[in-house]
Amino acid sequence: MESFVHLRKGRTPRRLHADLDGLKDDELGRAGFTGRTANMYRRHDPTAYRSAGPLRPVDVLSGDLKPADATDARGGPLLMFDNDDCRISLSRRHEPMPFHTRHVDGDLLCFVHRGAGLLETEFGPLRYREGDWVYLPKACTWRQVPDPSSEGATTLLMIETTDELRVPPPGALGRHFPFDPSQATIPEPVPIDDDGRDEYEVRLIHDGGPTTLYYQHNPIDVEGWRGDNFAFTFNIADYNVVTSDSVHLPPTVHLFMQAAGVYVMNFLPKPAEGVPGTERTPWYHRNVDYDEIAFFHGGSLYGIPMPPGLVTHAPQGVHHGAPEKARERARRKFDEHSRVDWQVIAVDTRRRLTPSAEVLAHDLGQH
Ligand SMILES: [Fe+2]
Repeated sequence: MESFVHLRKGRTPRRLHADLDGLKDDELGRAGFTGRTANMYRRHDPTAYRSAGPLRPVDVLSGDLKPADATDARGGPLLMFDNDDCRISLSRRHEPMPFHTRHVDGDLLCFVHRGAGLLETEFGPLRYREGDWVYLPKACTWRQVPDPSSEGATTLLMIETTDELRVPPPGALGRHFPFDPSQATIPEPVPIDDDGRDEYEVRLIHDGGPTTLYYQHNPIDVEGWRGDNFAFTFNIADYNVVTSDSVHLPPTVHLFMQAAGVYVMNFLPKPAEGVPGTERTPWYHRNVDYDEIAFFHGGSLYGIPMPPGLVTHAPQGVHHGAPEKARERARRKFDEHSRVDWQVIAVDTRRRLTPSAEVLAHDLGQH
């Protein structure tokens, strides 16, 4: 029975996610972290298993993957995971696009992991830098021009959603959560003159594609625009992190944008929970209703560096969580650290994600 009274059976700490006294805190919860739930207090680490069959956590270093756009200006991103609601890809473009592109199956949200550059969009030029989210509405035409530099490449995590991506509706915290919309960068229109070439190629990215349109003029020719459907960038440095001193909050408080079946979150630097006995490491769970992708942008966890560019996939129904050793260390070092400086991008999906062959071929095989 669902009730405002939460039942307690057997041995349970009085506070949530605290004072475990050797027990392993494991949540069996519905609807991400917002539905009916049971916290189980176990004797053993629930991630201590050996798996056989397709459902298992996958870890891959994005630096080991080889998107075609890393070596060929005419190449495209590499698909990492997909389902009917979204496609998650990796791009590492070195050269300016010799074509324009238009994702016609859905909205596009890109996270800039490395590099800086320019996007020529129909709405105007948009500069991008590390830590930016770049939003491109469905069927918007754009062209990427990475800055020439010693590294000379832009690493993008690309999330394409079938449904329209929206900012979450304002909740109890009001309209400046998850972010202050006035801190987004919105382009001013700048039409680009033709350069004398015969044709401009616009590559339409879609299921069963691509299709190519050829124009005799530069398609970035917008003199002006008005409305509420536009491209923008937003840097994670400007994101408002919600915290609590006495409990580790669930990941859903860090929501950034959402579409049907797809939730995008930022886990960013914040004060560590300060009340003694509070667990600072997310509890074990098997995220019953959502697959989870985590992309480690940077930072460390209580002095342990996190590998930049690591991508992890945790399928729904399969336990995952930080290793027990890391939890013990966080408890031991409670007084030494007052902040968490992780920078992790997370994508939760209602439907199961299928890892691509390239991802499976580079699985670090830690499970
Ligand atoms: Fe998780």
